[in-house]
Amino acid sequence: MEKLGEKRRVCVTGAGGFIASCLVKALLDKGFMVHGTVRDPSDEKNAHLKKLENASENLQLFKADLLDYNAVASAIAGCEGVFHVASPVPSTKVPNPEARFPNALVELIAPAVTGTLNVLKACCEAKVKRVVVVSSVAAVTMIPNWPKGKVKDENCWSDKEYCRTTENWYCLSKTLAESEALEYAEKHALDVVTVCPCMVIGPLLQPTVNASSLFLINLLKGVRDSVENRRWSFVDVIDVVDALLLVYEKPEASGRYICVSHTVKLRDVVDMLKSIYPKYDYPKTFIEVDEGSLFSTEKLKMLGWKCRRLEESLIDSVECYQDAGLLSKD
Ligand SMILES: NC(=O)c1ccc[n+]([C@@H]2O[C@H](COP(=O)([O-])OP(=O)(O)OC[C@H]3O[C@@H](n4cnc5c(N)ncnc54)[C@H](OP(=O)(O)O)[C@@H]3O)[C@@H](O)[C@H]2O)c1
Repeated sequence: MEKLGEKRRVCVTGAGGFIASCLVKALLDKGFMVHGTVRDPSDEKNAHLKKLENASENLQLFKADLLDYNAVASAIAGCEGVFHVASPVPSTKVPNPEARFPNALVELIAPAVTGTLNVLKACCEAKVKRVVVVSSVAAVTMIPNWPKGKVKDENCWSDKEYCRTTENWYCLSKTLAESEALEYAEKHALDVVTVCPCMVIGPLLQPTVNASSLFLINLLKGVRDSVENRRWSFVDVIDVVDALLLVYEKPEASGRYICVSHTVKLRDVVDMLKSIYPKYDYPKTFIEVDEGSLFSTEKLKMLGWKCRRLEESLIDSVECYQDAGLLSKD
């Protein structure tokens, strides 16, 4: 039990990742004590966490693989809330990311699903007040024969069988993890809220490049000459963090929340980037396809969520990549 005047204490899983690093920063800025789980606290890729403002007094790193229940439970013990962010995210570097996961069950699905259940079990044991689970629109959007142009909302669930037959293992991992989390919550009377972001962009705090940032970096580097001009949905990492904090703090928050800011054709993103940064080698050919989902973010907006303009997010992202030397030709 928290004593009067004691700092609020929360746990963030996968603290060194793209979204989690930004979340840890925001929590430290707000004066929280943060227990961050990382797989290897001594790895250089997590060093940025220790340099965040207030980190020396208020951030404690715990070594924990999601599949190690005892390690997860030690990080969660004593926390009033948990943000479960960690989950394997395959890179968009190759055309078929799943090709890198011949053993999808071990590399993707087990950490996502068993990992989430380990976190939730530890939350029950620690009597955590609320758990925010980061899911994805990957758990919303994979529905065969969905009418073109019809908006998807929180009632939409990716079809697991369809994910399996199309070998979309990441979507399957997120769908299984989120649905099992909500079932677990119901069964054990645990307060679990899930947030489903789309492609997350924005400045990186971590020294490594995560999958969604690589998507934008590859566009700027013109890694592919020819791309499909489908619809993509984007959200800024700062806005995702705002959404996570909002659903954590608002007592009325419950169930799932889609977190999408802008849905645009890829060519429009490239045109926007080109008008600000003309010197990069963008894709040259756009193959016209009428694909890509439309999402409703009404539920999150009803909680008071607002998002920044796409142009602002693109500028912040590019400035960060430039500063980090990620756009140079090698
Ligand atoms: N970025 C997006 O566009 C996007 C969109 C929707 C949803 N999401 C979700 O947001 C969350 C964070 O993604 P991100 O974009 O921030 O990617 P990220 O930077 O790759 O972060 C993923 C994190 O998960 C950790 N992790 C993976 N497997 C683990 C395991 N077995 N045990 C412990 N930790 C493990 C990684 O730790 P290591 O560093 O040790 O590998 C890393 O910290 C994920 O749940 C992802 O599905 C992301």
